[in-house]
Amino acid sequence: MKHFIDINNFNKKEIDEIVTLAKKIKKNPKKFSSFCKNKTLGLIFEKQSLRTRLSFYVGMQKLGGSVLELQSKDIGFDDIREKAEDVLNVLSQYIDCVMIRNNNHKQIVNLSKENILPIINGLTEYSHPCQILGDFLTLQENFKNYKKLSIVWIGDYNNVLRSLIHLQNIYNFKLNVVVPNQIFKHHKNEFLKLENKNLKYFSNPIEGVKKSNCIMTDVWVSMGEKNNKTKYFKNFTVNKKIMSNASNNAIFMHCLPAKRGNEVTSDVLDGKNSVVLKQAKNRMYIQQAILIYVLKK
Ligand code: CP
Ligand code: NVA
Repeated sequence: MKHFIDINNFNKKEIDEIVTLAKKIKKNPKKFSSFCKNKTLGLIFEKQSLRTRLSFYVGMQKLGGSVLELQSKDIGFDDIREKAEDVLNVLSQYIDCVMIRNNNHKQIVNLSKENILPIINGLTEYSHPCQILGDFLTLQENFKNYKKLSIVWIGDYNNVLRSLIHLQNIYNFKLNVVVPNQIFKHHKNEFLKLENKNLKYFSNPIEGVKKSNCIMTDVWVSMGEKNNKTKYFKNFTVNKKIMSNASNNAIFMHCLPAKRGNEVTSDVLDGKNSVVLKQAKNRMYIQQAILIYVLKK
């Protein structure tokens, strides 16, 4: 049984296969309109979502399949009424695949090991692999050769960054990680294990952004986080000055939702080099490719 939990569970060939499939679906959606006929996807959200919810919902429908949104509280997916495994056992009698967004990465890793039903990670506190795979599609549309990619991440050490680092470890493009020292120190050991000659840490955004052709950021405080870390991000707002220190025509990426005026100024977010809406749209083609991938026997 196939699951989609983290990018580092896959090799280059498998990731290439999913991204290539997404490109084919985007080019010729009609050809795929019955690929998931008679298949049902369940969506469980324990946190808010606009893009992930919509891209899975519409994406599955466009593949000829159906979607059920299962309210965690209503179905008792809480280990209180019954164990999560028991809920999945029952779900597997009706549906073919489940996407879960929660604050408990370990839970979905453990559930996937039970091989009850294909599980897709729709974001946890640890990672956001669907987002980064969608972003990889957007990057490939903007840069013909990913080997020439030079990405800078400016912001928090969070779920989206972690999936980006997993992708870097497979494709080895240049990635500068710019995170405030006070935050980085909590992740230093994790980072040192993954660091390589193309993956470097910086604490100064102006230094980190040099020669980059893609600037990526995300909110400073993720959903479910209790600690308001905003105070650590002085000089971390991606603004015109930061953009002007990158390569000419560097693109700006953000998974959204954005907090305008915090991690990015409105002129950059809405500016001509911003590809944020393309990223949102590409989520759908990647979700479709992931669905076909995990549903394939
Ligand atoms: N980027 C993203 O996952 O958006 P949502 O949280 O709205 O799904
Ligand atoms: N890091 C953000 C991503 C939202 C898509 C969060 O977890 O809230």
